[in-house]
Amino acid sequence: MAVKVKSRKILQMVTAYPLGKSVFDLQKEMGLPSIINLSEIENVFGCSPYVKNHLTQQLDHLFTYPDGSARLLTAKLAEFLNVKSDRLFIGNGSDEIIRLLLRAFLNAGDEAVMAEITFPRYKTNVTIEGGRPVLVPLIEGKHDLDGMLLSITEKTKLIFVCNPNNPTGTIVEKKKLDDFISKVPEHILVVLDEAYYEYVMNDEYLQSVPYLKKYSNLVILRTFSKVYGLAGLRIGYGLMDPFIAEELNKVKEVFNVNQLAQAAAISALDDQEFRVECVERNEEGKRFLENELTKMGYTFFPTHANFMMIHTGQPGDVVRNELLKNGILVKSGSALGYPDAIRVTISSMQDNHYFIKCLKNIESGNGGIS
Ligand SMILES: Cc1ncc(COP(=O)(O)O)c(C=O)c1O
Repeated sequence: MAVKVKSRKILQMVTAYPLGKSVFDLQKEMGLPSIINLSEIENVFGCSPYVKNHLTQQLDHLFTYPDGSARLLTAKLAEFLNVKSDRLFIGNGSDEIIRLLLRAFLNAGDEAVMAEITFPRYKTNVTIEGGRPVLVPLIEGKHDLDGMLLSITEKTKLIFVCNPNNPTGTIVEKKKLDDFISKVPEHILVVLDEAYYEYVMNDEYLQSVPYLKKYSNLVILRTFSKVYGLAGLRIGYGLMDPFIAEELNKVKEVFNVNQLAQAAAISALDDQEFRVECVERNEEGKRFLENELTKMGYTFFPTHANFMMIHTGQPGDVVRNELLKNGILVKSGSALGYPDAIRVTISSMQDNHYFIKCLKNIESGNGGIS
């Protein structure tokens, strides 16, 4: 029977996020004993064992609604980050906060400036709200902050800066970002997406939290999905002027963040040793991959996160499919704006070694090592 109902017109311009096949289905389809999934940017080392322990204690409370204001976590984060609690907003992943920011601040016809190749949810949500995404090309994988400033018009409402940028892993230099923030007119929101903040080990990275006091239009987004390894629970947070947080409260679901996620985030903050260990292991993996890839003649963007965008010199789809035959799943750059590249999550040393071994075999025409 033909469907007669019509969705909002704007949805003709939106495609659902391509989730693809599940790892389980791929494994069955390919007849593989297992798959090393390096295609989603998750923490391959899992989450803190301390979190797991704490979660079991929460199971007796599942019949109650979660705290819609996430008071305990907010207080904990406020202390941890040395900010006032009214500057914090807890979301169902930072993804939700991106959506709510646009829901609350973008009118139809408004413009939002962002990099041409960056986290795709900015563009999708701007479009859904009837706004116009204004895309500024990257320069060598980095945000072109001058170009972004030049793209501001009287219709601009928000600017997204993804730092480090997904999918390139690059950061913008401290001085340039400082200068940029000072030049954006105060009525335009500057959203600094710092999903990979904890991984950055570079002095050139701007510590943005102190800027909140000076710039009422600044929003910083962070998440528990990455270094804290809680992607499956969906929890992130934003730092902002209390007025912006209040506006987000108006458009959020009442109980937007489930209670297991809130409890897990609190215990994750209590285990900073785990975070430090993950970052160190990521650094070791990054150095190894950078060395090996350089020896093999590959180029890649200088990454400051837990993933790398590697130029493969042949279609990323081909390399992705060859790697998959050997039980490694990476993201082809074709879906990310770099058709001749792959994006790979930095993993354990064992997986990193195996990845390089497979890549070498593919290059030598053996199609892998299975
Ligand atoms: C740059 C960036 N921002 C935000 C997110 C969303 O993270 P989450 O909704 O899991 O907090 C991601 C996820 O991959 C990301 O890469």
